[in-house]
Amino acid sequence: MIRHKLAALLLLSGALAFNSVDTFADAPDSTYLFSYVSNKNAGRNGLHVAWSSDGSQWNEIGPEYRFVGSDYGPWGAEKRMLAPYLTKTADGLWHCVWSLNEKEGRLAHAASADLVNWKRQSYPKVMEEGNCLYPEISYNQSTKEFLLTWLIATAANDTTVFCTTTKDFKTYSPTKKATATSRMNNRSTLALADGSMTGVVTKVAKSEADRLKDARDLNDYRQQKYDERTESDGVRFAGLQPVEATITVDKKESKAISDLLVGVFFEDINYAADGGLYAELIQNRDFEYDLSDTQGRDRNWNSKKAWSLTGENATFTIDTVAPIHPNNPHYAVLSVKEKNGAGLGNSGFDGIVLKKGDAYDVALFARQIDGNKGKLVVRLVGKNGAVYGESQLSTLSSDWKQYKAVIKAGADATDASLVVIPQEVGTVALDMISLFPQKTFKNRPNGLRADLAETLAAMHPRFVRFPGGCVAHGGGLENMYRWKNTIGPLESRKPLRNIWNYHQTAGLGYFEYFQFCEDIGAEPLPVLAAGVPCQNSPGGQQGGIPMCDMDEYIQEVLDLIEWANGDAKSTWGKKRAEAGHPKPFNLKYVGIGNEDLISDVFEERFEMLFKAVKEKHPEITVVGTVGPFYEGTDYEEGWDIASRLGVPMVDEHYYVSPGWMIYNQDYYDKYDRSKSKVYLGEYAAHLPGRPNNLETALAEALYLTSVERNGDVVSMASYAPLLAKEGHTQWNPDLIYFNNSEVKPTVDYYVQMLYGQNAGDTYLTSQIKLSNNKEQVKNRIAVSVVQDSKSGDVIIKLVNMLPVSVKSTLNLEGLVLESSRTTKTILTGSPTDKKLLPLTSEIKITPNFDYEMPGYSFTVFRISNKL
Ligand code: AHR
Repeated sequence: MIRHKLAALLLLSGALAFNSVDTFADAPDSTYLFSYVSNKNAGRNGLHVAWSSDGSQWNEIGPEYRFVGSDYGPWGAEKRMLAPYLTKTADGLWHCVWSLNEKEGRLAHAASADLVNWKRQSYPKVMEEGNCLYPEISYNQSTKEFLLTWLIATAANDTTVFCTTTKDFKTYSPTKKATATSRMNNRSTLALADGSMTGVVTKVAKSEADRLKDARDLNDYRQQKYDERTESDGVRFAGLQPVEATITVDKKESKAISDLLVGVFFEDINYAADGGLYAELIQNRDFEYDLSDTQGRDRNWNSKKAWSLTGENATFTIDTVAPIHPNNPHYAVLSVKEKNGAGLGNSGFDGIVLKKGDAYDVALFARQIDGNKGKLVVRLVGKNGAVYGESQLSTLSSDWKQYKAVIKAGADATDASLVVIPQEVGTVALDMISLFPQKTFKNRPNGLRADLAETLAAMHPRFVRFPGGCVAHGGGLENMYRWKNTIGPLESRKPLRNIWNYHQTAGLGYFEYFQFCEDIGAEPLPVLAAGVPCQNSPGGQQGGIPMCDMDEYIQEVLDLIEWANGDAKSTWGKKRAEAGHPKPFNLKYVGIGNEDLISDVFEERFEMLFKAVKEKHPEITVVGTVGPFYEGTDYEEGWDIASRLGVPMVDEHYYVSPGWMIYNQDYYDKYDRSKSKVYLGEYAAHLPGRPNNLETALAEALYLTSVERNGDVVSMASYAPLLAKEGHTQWNPDLIYFNNSEVKPTVDYYVQMLYGQNAGDTYLTSQIKLSNNKEQVKNRIAVSVVQDSKSGDVIIKLVNMLPVSVKSTLNLEGLVLESSRTTKTILTGSPTDKKLLPLTSEIKITPNFDYEMPGYSFTVFRISNKL
C-alpha cells in the first residue's frame, strides 16, 4: 500500500527512480524522509527534513529546523542552499549537493554519516560560464565514482544537462554535456503544513527518522536552557530562600594554570584604530578614502572625505600624478587665487578635541606646484571661527618634503578643525596631513590615545591579540591584512579597505602594536591569515592564495618572526631597529587563521604554513583555528586538523547567551589534556538587543571561574570585541565604548579587569556545599581560588547570579596564610544595570569567615601574602 502511494507520488512528479540505497524497502519499520528547503529566506534556512510512515501524511521535523546550512559567501547576500539533493550511498554516507545561487558555476557538497553531524563543505567550480541548477548526485558501484549532474539555464531560458564525476570530492573529471536520461529527475513536490515544498524522498529505517527527531528535541531542550534570562527570575525563583554555602579551600590540591589567561583582543572594528586608539586627529589624512571602503554604501566617501575649503577664491582637487609614494597615490591640490586666508580644512573624526595648554604636532607633506613659493599656516579653529592656536611652516619647495610644526591649544574644544592656509597665491600639493597630541600613551610619537590605552592597561592584560578578527583574513584575497604593508614610514604604508566598511590607514601598524604590548607588559599575539580570506567574503574563500604564491606568503609569515625577534643586522630585524627598536620584541605566539571555514582549501594552506613555522621556528607557539562556534563542522574538523598536525594551541570563538554560560561550566572539564591547548580568542555573552549589563557581565564572570579551573588546558582568553566608538559601531556588545573625549567602560569590562588584575598561576581546589542543589540554583553560584606566585597572594572569586543572597562560610584552614589583610572588591546591582562600578574595601579575614554574597554579585577577595 505504502509503495503504491509513493509510486503514484513520484510518477506525478516525473521521477524515474530512487537514487538512494533502498535497503529498507521491505522492512516493516521503514519510513520515508523528505529533504527540502523552505520557501523562506531564499534558502538561507538550510536543509529541512519531513518524515512519513506511509508516504502520504508528512510531518515536518521543524519548525524550520536546519540539519545543515550553506556556508558559502557573505551573510545576508549568500549562504543560500537551493534545490538540495540528498542521497545515501552504499557506504552508508549521506551526500547532499545543492546550488549556491542562480549565477555561479559552482556546486556545493557536504556529507554526513547521520544527517546530524556534517563534514566540511566544498564548492567545486564546475562551469567556467553558466550556473549550476538542480544538482543531483548518484553513485556508480562498478566505477566507484559519484556522478554529479546539473542543469544550466541557457540564454533561451532553456536548460542543458552537464555532468562531472569524482571519487573523493577533491578532484573532478572535466565537465561535459550529458543527456536528460542521466538524471534521476526524482524531485517531488509535496504539501506540507508550511506549504508546498519541492525536495527528494528517500526510504530509510525508522530509527533514522527517530534519530533526527531526537536531534531536534535535544536541540530544543538545550535551547530552552540557553534562553534562560534573569528577566524571568522572579517566576523561576519565586519563593527561593537565601542559599547557604560552605566553601572549603585546600592548598594540598592545587595545579599550575596558565599565567597568561586574561588578555585583550584588539580588532579595528567600530573605529577602534583610526578615530580610536590611534591618536591621529585628522581623518583621511592620506586622501585615500575610497567609495569601495564602504562597498558603495556611502556616496560621499571618497578622497575628499572630512576635507573642505574654507574661504573664498580657492579650489581643491585630488590628483595622483607623481605621489609621495605609490602606496599612497592620492593627494590634494589646493589653489588659492588671492591672499585672503582661504585654505583646506579637516574636521577630524566628528570634530577635533583639544585640551587647553596641550601641544599638538602637525606634520604634512607639501610641494609648490605653481605660483610664488610661500609658507603654510596651520591653524586650529572652532566651528564659530574661534582660533585655538596656529603655527607657520617653512617655505615650500617644488619637491615633496615633509614640514612640521607644533601648535599649543589656547582653549579646550571638541569641535576644532585643522586648516592649512597657503600664504601666497598659487597651487600646492598636500598629503599626509597629520595632527597628533604630544601627550600620547607613554608619549610615544605616532602613538596611542592615552585615556583609551590606559583603560586597556588597567586590565593588566597578559597578551594582546591583533589585528583581528575578520580584519586579519579580510573580506577577499585583496583585502587580507599584510603586516609588511603596515610598517615603515607612514607615507609608505599601504592603506586598506576595512572589512567593517570604513578605511584603515595602517598608521597603527605592526610596530605600534608590538610597542604597545611591550609598554603594558603583554605578550604580542599577531594573527595572520591562513592563506584564505574570511568565509563570509564575496565568493567565499575564493580558492585561497593561489598555490603558486604560497611560498611567498609563507616567507611573509617567517619574515614577521625575523622582524620581531631577529638580530638588528638581519634583513627584517634591521627594519625593526630602524623604526627605533633595536632589541628583539621576543615574540612567542603567532596565530594562523581566524575562525575560518574549515575546507580543503584552508587545510592545505594551513598545513603548509604551520609546518614551515614549526620547522624554522620551533620556539614559536602556533595558534590554529577551529571555527566560529563551540561545536559543529568547523569546530570538529578544525580540532581534527590540530590533533593530526600536533598544533600546540587552537583559537576557539563563541558568542553565546548568558544561559549557555550558566549551563556549560563543565565545557573544558571534559577536554582531553593530551591535545592542543586552547586560546578562547573571542567570547561574550549576548542577550537579545545586544546590551552590556550586569547580567552579561555576571554570566561571563561565572563562566570565567570555570576557565580558571581549566587553566591547565585553556592558556589564554579574550573578550571580543574590545573597543567601539559611539556612533560608529558595527557590532554590539563591546567591552569599552568611547567618543572623542570620554572612555566608557562597560560592566563587562570591570569583570575582565578584576580577572586580569587578580590572575594567578596556581589553581587551588575548593569544595562547595549548598543548602539547595536544584540545577537552576547551583549553576548560578561559582567559586574559583587561585594563587599568584609573584606576590604569594591568594585570590577568591565568588559569583552569585541568583536573585537571593548566598550566605557562605569560607573555610580556608587548608591554606597557610601569612596575613589576614584582604582587599574585597564587589560588583553588584540589578541585572539590567549598565553603569556599575566595582567597590573596593580593606578587610581582615579569619581562616573561617562568613560572607554573604548579595544577589547578582561578583566578589573578589585578595588575601595579601604580606604581613
Ligand atoms: O569580534 C567581532 C568579529 O567576530 C570578529 O572579527 C570575527 O572574528 C568574529 O566573527
